[in-house]
Amino acid sequence: MVYARISRRLRKLGLSSFSEYISYLNNNESVEFGEFINAITTNLTSFFRETHHFDFLKKTAVPEILSRHKSDHRVRIWSAGCSLGMEPYSIAICLDKLIPSNWDFKILATDLDTNVLESGREAIYEGGQVSGLSDAQLKKYFLKDGSAKRYKAKPYLKQNISFKQLNLLKEWPIKGPFDVIFCRNVIIYFDHETKVKLFNRYANLLAPGGYLILGHSESMGRENLQFKGLGQNVYQKIAQ
Ligand SMILES: C[S@@+](CC[C@H](N)C(=O)[O-])C[C@H]1O[C@@H](n2cnc3c(N)ncnc32)[C@H](O)[C@@H]1O
Repeated sequence: MVYARISRRLRKLGLSSFSEYISYLNNNESVEFGEFINAITTNLTSFFRETHHFDFLKKTAVPEILSRHKSDHRVRIWSAGCSLGMEPYSIAICLDKLIPSNWDFKILATDLDTNVLESGREAIYEGGQVSGLSDAQLKKYFLKDGSAKRYKAKPYLKQNISFKQLNLLKEWPIKGPFDVIFCRNVIIYFDHETKVKLFNRYANLLAPGGYLILGHSESMGRENLQFKGLGQNVYQKIAQ
């Protein structure tokens, strides 16, 4: 996989070997390192991927959030490893009208890959990419972009979402507390020690009773005492 992805980069730059690419990378690090990272990230995503997480959000998390924030009216959700934006836009659609419109509600969408962040900000999706959305959702939240089968998110859907570059393995210039953190299909390739550190950092940023949602092939061992597993890779931060 890495071979194929870097080979594409070599062809684009007109280079004939990996060692030439390494020299190029070393000599042009400020420009090429970002391209290198963008080339090797796996960005597969879709609207309402793992639908049960959105059912959970609506039925369980939202009533608790409304009660927790009845006096400060401040709700924060983080989509960590947001890829092309389908995850944060699905969250926004799921919560539309459930969080009162005069509340301070924000979704932070972060990723390491600058190309996907640009697509997320632009929010234009091709026909095949919107298969997770119903016709009613498409009509309500998207505009047809030109005559082609392309859809562009309406400003109304985008208003609470901000896209930022962030490497989960580096510093996080973020304050929190978050009510829910989605980190799905991102940590699959991280080693055990890195995952443990990451879960502790998420715990520190979650409100007591807040939720961490992982992807279908990701789970947290029982050794993390800050979270209680609720099934389907949903974890609740234990209120202390
Ligand atoms: C497979 S996509 C998952 C997208 C979405 N969360 C979902 O489940 O549909 C994984 C995303 O994680 C991002 N990613 C990988 N390593 C990362 C890191 N260290 N920091 C931030 N994002 C990372 C990739 O760039 C990619 O966009």
